[in-house]
Amino acid sequence: MMLDRLTPQAPDALLALIRLHNADPRPEKIDLGVGVYRTEEGTTPVFAAVKAAEAQLLAEQDSKSYLGPEGDMGFVHALMPHIFGADPTMGGRISGMQTPGGTGAVRLALALAQKAGVRRVHMGVPSWPNHAQILADLGMELAPFDHARADGSADVDALLAAIRGAGPNEAVLLHACCHNPTGIDYTADQWAAIAAALAESGTFPIIDAAYQGLGQGMEEDAAGLRAVLAAVPEAFIAYSCDKNFGQYRDRVGAFYIMAGEPGALETAFSNANALARAAWSMPPDHGGAVVRIILRDPDLTAQWLAEVDAMRARMREVRAALAAAGRAGRIDLAPLGSQNGLFAMLPVTKEEVAQLREEHAIYMAASGRINIAGLTSTNLPRFIAALAAVAA
Ligand SMILES: Cc1ncc(COP(=O)(O)O)c(C=O)c1O
Repeated sequence: MMLDRLTPQAPDALLALIRLHNADPRPEKIDLGVGVYRTEEGTTPVFAAVKAAEAQLLAEQDSKSYLGPEGDMGFVHALMPHIFGADPTMGGRISGMQTPGGTGAVRLALALAQKAGVRRVHMGVPSWPNHAQILADLGMELAPFDHARADGSADVDALLAAIRGAGPNEAVLLHACCHNPTGIDYTADQWAAIAAALAESGTFPIIDAAYQGLGQGMEEDAAGLRAVLAAVPEAFIAYSCDKNFGQYRDRVGAFYIMAGEPGALETAFSNANALARAAWSMPPDHGGAVVRIILRDPDLTAQWLAEVDAMRARMREVRAALAAAGRAGRIDLAPLGSQNGLFAMLPVTKEEVAQLREEHAIYMAASGRINIAGLTSTNLPRFIAALAAVAA
């Protein structure tokens, strides 16, 4: 039988963790596994700005006829000043298209790079697991280097060596901010060195921006990406609105290309459109239309930005409380205070992760990744005490 030729694939570890957590009857259980923002009350609500825009969309939308493979270009353009700044097209060198989530944008970026001849992609590890999965699925080679040092800082020397040592048909995949899973971002000085190395070597940058606004601020989180774009002739940017608009399941993303000149940009998009048509034809509309409505309305934009500010402030508070605790057993929590975004990696063993789950009802990925937003002022002291007990 044909289907007998298929071998079972490893189940998604985080989904298995969700199931375990849901089945756990202990009321004090703490979920640090799932990668979504949570409020102090432990919920992931729809943004008020999104609700208001959805009401408007429901009242105003007069057709659900097909759009093209590029999706809602009003959405794509409205986002650009937030990502790229005061000159959002860099003099006509940047354009974009809508994608099914940031995942669709990463997939399209890598597939287009492959079509343009890229065979090998340099990337700091650990990274978001889907980066390696997409590369493997496309048959592209991953050239890994260590993203972080043991002291909780970014190993920028490893990245610079990878960029300088890369061959002509090679690219480097960078996280714009809020590195998943480590939370360890490059400093402004490091981004300047990265931009200079990219400009000098000609290594092609692919920048994944999935968490703008969740680290230090909307502008601050885009500074590294903008430094790179100011220095290099060409780049790809994969963007997700699923975290910073809280639209996870609506799959809202965009793929941007910066090219050397307008002719090259047009040709690149004709190829990106062809890849999109063959993969998903066109992206889902709803979430992108919602973002467009928000970003074209100054009041809704202000409301959305205030909601992003509140998310970020809460995560910074949790990080400050972890850092203030100093140590939990052998684990130094101080670096978590200056790291960014939803995630941090704790240097715990798989056995300690299992012990935290079994003895303390604390759920985290086997890698030691925790979701910072799973912690609250109520459960944080218990988390630190359990960690100290387990990682003595
Ligand atoms: C680094 C990174 N890139 C891209 C994505 C994709 O986001 P989505 O497809 O949900 O928009 C994620 C989501 O977890 C991520 O962590």
